[in-house]
Amino acid sequence: MERPRRRHRLATLAVAGFAATILGVSYAQEAKKKAEPEERPSSYAPVVATESLAKTMARMKAGKPEIEKRHQTLLLKRYDLADHPAKNATMSRGKPLQERVRAKLPKGVKSWEALAAMSPEEIRSQGLFPAGFLPLPHPNHPEGGMLFPKYHIDEVKKQEGRDLTRFDLDYDLPDHLLPEFPPPIFLTTRPDLTKMADGKVVGDVSQGKLVTIDNYFELFSGILNPKQLEGLRLLVTPFPQQQFNQTDDRRTERASRGVVCFDCHVNGHTNAATHLVGDIRPQPFRHRLDTPSLRGVNIQRLFGSQRAMKSVEDFTEFEQRAAYFDGDPVIATKKGVNILERGSQVHFMGEFQALLDFPPAPKLDVFGKLNPKLASKSELRGQELFFNKARCATCHPAPYYTDNLMHNLRTERFYKPGMIGDSGAMAAADGPIKTFPLRGTKDSPPYLHDGRLLTLDDTVEFFNLILELKLTAEEKKDLIAFLLAL
Ligand code: HEC
Ligand code: HEC
Repeated sequence: MERPRRRHRLATLAVAGFAATILGVSYAQEAKKKAEPEERPSSYAPVVATESLAKTMARMKAGKPEIEKRHQTLLLKRYDLADHPAKNATMSRGKPLQERVRAKLPKGVKSWEALAAMSPEEIRSQGLFPAGFLPLPHPNHPEGGMLFPKYHIDEVKKQEGRDLTRFDLDYDLPDHLLPEFPPPIFLTTRPDLTKMADGKVVGDVSQGKLVTIDNYFELFSGILNPKQLEGLRLLVTPFPQQQFNQTDDRRTERASRGVVCFDCHVNGHTNAATHLVGDIRPQPFRHRLDTPSLRGVNIQRLFGSQRAMKSVEDFTEFEQRAAYFDGDPVIATKKGVNILERGSQVHFMGEFQALLDFPPAPKLDVFGKLNPKLASKSELRGQELFFNKARCATCHPAPYYTDNLMHNLRTERFYKPGMIGDSGAMAAADGPIKTFPLRGTKDSPPYLHDGRLLTLDDTVEFFNLILELKLTAEEKKDLIAFLLAL
């Protein structure tokens, strides 16, 4: 009991000085309080805002350029963020995938092979774990909260007049590294509505549109039953949240009607909207979250990267009650919590989510393995590696490439715990994380629960290192070719 406590306290102290100078209410005040040695740390965010919204807004707007510059510097230190589209690999509807390993090699290391030849202890003691493989901080970690990519904000504003812009912070990753938008929808009940040509999706039930409260009925009436249609309506209906609500404790200029489930799980998939996980305290230890796709939740058994909720219905019901990922029912109540009724609302929403299928994978047979007549030599070699030498299938078995369990990858074997630069985020140990399914994975960059890996090339390099596989450059290429076929 004694040790973890001390570590928490140290991390809080480290972040408090910085946080207190630039942040509004919420966690900054909490952190400041914790820095006073005679006061006990608290799990709660302050309920009473002691500053007017106008003052908070002015202060946070003034602080925004500095915060964004700091975070961009961190990103550029870790990654190559440039646009390197793959020539022959696209997401389901044709957005080019990004290729190359984007995490930068640590200074003084000549190649990924040279790094992988070192032992975890050597890498740890010499500080040579690539920065891009460490947990990725939220764009403003001490503040946190929901954050949406610009193209999503623009489309929602156009369709609904609802503004998801935060006055204090913009989304951080460039568009070319994000999933295609709007993504297609595949219904388990109506596969006939998916039209394919040359291995690509050329038509789907969403008709290339972002599904919103404005068009859901027109798009889905006659395709869903009334129960599912009502579930979908609730998935695209705004409800108040932490940053988007009608009180003066918010991060939008105007009072906001709130956020819809599909603002992050756009068209039942993901737009890589980000947040901090609610499960962990104090603030520096919270993980950044990359929104997971809801495609294929029907075959999954655990929900949330660490929470391990046992049903889609539970996840649907409980998020709003606890201030969406802040794990805080007190704050949710303050801002206008929407209590969903289990029998007629939660289940309907759950039913719709359970219809969301993985994207078509034309080269896979009914066992989820490559059809040798359709697959390339490289893909077949990749499959062989995946199931044998690279040991991926231990945790990602066919046909959906998840074992529906959690695993502790123990990346902390490779680095010493500590604050990540001046981000306010702590690189501690991640603990056990859900095995995300790899079916359709090409459609959902960035990768891992926090989005720290930008391309599939990064994921192969990452697992090669942390599982100590010692794959050759050729083997890595084959493995990527296989992942693209899933
Ligand atoms: C701010 C963006 C955001 C909004 C809004 C949002 N989600 Fe999520 N959703 C996420 C993130 C991030 C996770 C991963 C949580 C974690 O790892 O603990 C998640 C996880 C889930 C999961 C579990 C998926 C899995 O693979 O484990 C379900 C189911 C889900 N959300 C449904 C919903 C529903 C229903 C709503 C509306 C009531 C909703 N979400 C609103 C971002 C969002
Ligand atoms: C010991 C179990 C284990 C093994 C072995 C393993 N993985 Fe994973 N994989 C996981 C877990 C757990 C996650 C989620 C980790 C996280 O989000 O922090 C994951 C995540 C991924 C992701 C990102 C998925 C997403 O949606 O973000 C990819 C891609 C992936 N693994 C590929 C591989 C490949 C390729 C191999 C073999 C070289 C492999 N994995 C071996 C457990 C494993």
